Amino acid sequence: MTTQLLDGNLLAIEIRNEISNIIEEKIVNKNKRIPHLGIILTGNNSSSITYVNNKIKECKKIGIKYSLVHLPINSLEEELLVEINKMNQNPCIDGFIVQLPLEKHINQDKIILSINPKKDVDGFHPENFGKMTFGIETFFPATALGILTILDKYKIQISGKYTVIIGRSRIVGRPISILMSRKNNLGNSTVTLTHSKTKNIEYYTKQADIIIVAVGIPKFLKGKMIKKGAVIIDVGIHNHDKKILGDVDFYSVYGKASYLTPVPGGIGPMTRVMLLKNTLFAALNNRIDK
Ligand code: GUN
Repeated sequence: MTTQLLDGNLLAIEIRNEISNIIEEKIVNKNKRIPHLGIILTGNNSSSITYVNNKIKECKKIGIKYSLVHLPINSLEEELLVEINKMNQNPCIDGFIVQLPLEKHINQDKIILSINPKKDVDGFHPENFGKMTFGIETFFPATALGILTILDKYKIQISGKYTVIIGRSRIVGRPISILMSRKNNLGNSTVTLTHSKTKNIEYYTKQADIIIVAVGIPKFLKGKMIKKGAVIIDVGIHNHDKKILGDVDFYSVYGKASYLTPVPGGIGPMTRVMLLKNTLFAALNNRIDK
């Protein structure tokens, strides 16, 4: 069967242009302050540094201002809370993120709870997560939003389809499970959320119309685990022997899936533009000079 690749790079260009046009029309032309994203990075996790550098490049491409605070490894939780508080208070910062994961000695829940929900462009704060489950407009986590957008733009039907998600993280698996089962035109899917304790994952994946793999294990999903014609969304990204691998064993799935997101160039670029879409949303809705 022919497998069509879902081109996140191409779609990201389109969305980047849409965001830039809105900034021009609603902000620059009205002499308002350019949207501004804050980024707090802790420690020296190489993947986190790469992710943050890519987010900064995205800001530059779109024309959104950014401020980066990089706290050294072994910084105290209190020091991180001070920086979060400064971003919460700074009227020039429309939204900000604290790059995850955090070092073991820092309480991640406490950190997320300390972010002002109106500036939580990751959509991780329980207030925003709760609103998302209620279907109230708010910031949706960027990767989940990127997945929905790519499915929508390629006109892949979600309603009535059986979706299996592998990985229950708060960043990807859980939010996308909620969004795809909502009662609306980008939802109405029957969703199974599988995870490390699920027995016989293949039992589920073999029946799935759509499989979203966000498990953090290179080449986890193999061709023999899917049915012919399934739509495969690969959220993983791993540096391996100078190659970049996803959570999907690309060559064993290629030719059996109907649609497949490549790594790189699939969900990664979609996630980055969605973060900036959330930042624009914050800038348009929450600022005092609007
Ligand atoms: N680490 C991996 N993905 C993300 C993300 O979307 N946001 C934050 N803050 N950290 C991450």
